[in-house]
Amino acid sequence: MNDAELYNKSNIITKTDALQCLEEYGKRIKWKNGEITVLDIGCGDGGVTMGILKKFIPDNCERLVGCDISENMVHFANKQYANDHTSFMVLNIEGDLPNKLRGTFDYVFSFYALHWIQQQEVAFANIYDLLSERGECFLVFLAHTPVFDVYRVLSRSTKWKFWMKDVERFISPYIDCLEPEKKVKQMMTSIGFTSVEVECLHKTFVYPNLDVLKGLVTSINPFEIPKDLEEDFLLDYFNVLRDLRIIDHASSNVDGPTKATFNYRLIVAKGRKALIF
Ligand SMILES: C[S@@+](CC[C@H](N)C(=O)[O-])C[C@H]1O[C@@H](n2cnc3c(N)ncnc32)[C@H](O)[C@@H]1O
Repeated sequence: MNDAELYNKSNIITKTDALQCLEEYGKRIKWKNGEITVLDIGCGDGGVTMGILKKFIPDNCERLVGCDISENMVHFANKQYANDHTSFMVLNIEGDLPNKLRGTFDYVFSFYALHWIQQQEVAFANIYDLLSERGECFLVFLAHTPVFDVYRVLSRSTKWKFWMKDVERFISPYIDCLEPEKKVKQMMTSIGFTSVEVECLHKTFVYPNLDVLKGLVTSINPFEIPKDLEEDFLLDYFNVLRDLRIIDHASSNVDGPTKATFNYRLIVAKGRKALIF
């Protein structure tokens, strides 16, 4: 996922969900007095960090940092949104944490990123380590979306399996889980988080036309499909969406005005770092 500009233009779903989740569950966040620092993990192009999250953060925020594993995304976000209080940096939340970042953030947020992490315990332990004492995290990520079903179907086809050998890396580890909220809560509690609240929301998002969806699908495609096969891949992708009845079966044209209806499950998780005695 590297096309920051295209993602910036087409990611209406993450903006909508970040806004709804913050409006509905953000009230439970206990904001500290005094200067605070905030981190947004998997910030991508920075659009949600600056366009949605920033509006919910109180004025006493001294430093807002976005981080992402993708250098392209971080470069785009810095160019577009960095200012005296806001910056973006490359960080793999599933990797080794730089010591200087430990315990330095009062609030850690993440939207639509953690479902790409296979070693969930490592990422959540890193989030715990990034937080300051009594710091809070607010995390929104997917348990299931039809996009994962499309990946699995295409990865089994003779035509695409070569390019999609690592397909499971890009599918939520909770896809086949009946009660992902219980699993996430248990994991967070065992790491040491307190006041843990986890919910799994059943949501629907309707793309009014396939152009927007085409842009989003292209910008988030994690597979290294050769340039000359990209159009063909997209056609097959949309054909699977039709087979799954996500797109109206009657439509045979990718650029047509037909809508696409996605039913998906979204996890919202909140927790606090305990007091260190
Ligand atoms: C779908 S985008 C979401 C971007 C943004 N948060 C939003 O809501 O629009 C997921 C982002 O997670 C990033 N990501 C994936 N794995 C990551 C990791 N291990 N560490 C940090 N970021 C990661 C990707 O590079 C991508 O930019």
